[in-house]
Amino acid sequence: MTILGIETSCDETSAAIVRDGIVRSNIVSSQYFHSLYGGVVPELASRAHLRNIVPIIEKALHEAETEMRELNVVAATQGPGLIGSLLVGLNTGKAIAMCLGLPFIPVNHIEAHLLSPFLMEQHPAFPYIGLVVSGGHTLLVLVDGLQNYRLLGSTIDDAAGEAFDKVAKMLGLGFPGGPEIDSRARHGNAKAFDFPRPLLDEQGYRFSFSGLKTSVLYMLRGRATNGVLALSPEEIDDVCASFQRSVVDVLTGKLLRAAVEFNVHAVAVTGGVSANRELAGTLRQRCEEMDLRLHIPAAIYSTDNAAMVAMLASMKDIPSSAALHAPAFARLAGTLFHEAP
Ligand code: KG4
Ligand code: ZN
Repeated sequence: MTILGIETSCDETSAAIVRDGIVRSNIVSSQYFHSLYGGVVPELASRAHLRNIVPIIEKALHEAETEMRELNVVAATQGPGLIGSLLVGLNTGKAIAMCLGLPFIPVNHIEAHLLSPFLMEQHPAFPYIGLVVSGGHTLLVLVDGLQNYRLLGSTIDDAAGEAFDKVAKMLGLGFPGGPEIDSRARHGNAKAFDFPRPLLDEQGYRFSFSGLKTSVLYMLRGRATNGVLALSPEEIDDVCASFQRSVVDVLTGKLLRAAVEFNVHAVAVTGGVSANRELAGTLRQRCEEMDLRLHIPAAIYSTDNAAMVAMLASMKDIPSSAALHAPAFARLAGTLFHEAP
């Protein structure tokens, strides 16, 4: 079973080939030019996907030493994400499936992140608690099995990655802000500033990062002279370390509390923020103490990638509707192309 996966939900154009559950290629092209604007510009993102999608798919096929005619299934991210960006990958995938007469599987982006630990050799056994932390999402899920998910809680305002990006912007650091804050925090003192741990003591599993972001803003305003930020490089490192510590305390606290409440033996952290070294380090230590298995995918599978899309499609039964539509699509494509001049 050879699957072509396509991911274009935000600012990464990605295509991957998964054959019999093994990743043969995973090409990711990141649109770094958004850093010029301090955030992703949706219209520019979809135009860049349009330019990139065909070469990226060709590269994925080439690297996997796979011919188009060897594909059995095409899968692409259906949402959530930026609509213009999603449409590029989705329609390219549908067109390829239609022309080759193959089933097309639309994939949910969050579900793909949630199951991304299955890209690793050591993957979790069900049930596990999955924490998806990215630029667009922060949610905690009890994963009882494939397509058997219980949402325990999610953010009521900003996503954790979004907070990293916004705080980095306030500090005049680059975009995306997560990796910048991660690096600078290593040199800083996490106790220098006492930022809040929003909703950490609340019973449930809701998250909130907007107030934390605002408290960083107020602290910075208090130290500005004539509206100009007046912090030394060392103080910026301290703000990064203190802010990051707050986020890590909240994410770790809620994740581990859920693991105890639902009596699971494994937890998985996925999405771009799972690349954060302080988060991974803290969780490694706490999970060892609590005898919990910790699963964090390799960095290339943490941020947006098509391997997770193809892998999720490979784990699902192909819905009969997708399989049934395939010959009809092929007939339609045949008619269209024979009639074309
Ligand atoms: O999963 P992802 O690639 O895209 C979305 O679906 O949003 O996540 C991107 C987010 C960005 O907000 C970025 O700042 C954050 O992940 N991120 C990090 C790190 N690397 C990426 N946040 C904290 N520490 C990192 N090392
Ligand atoms: Zn994502």
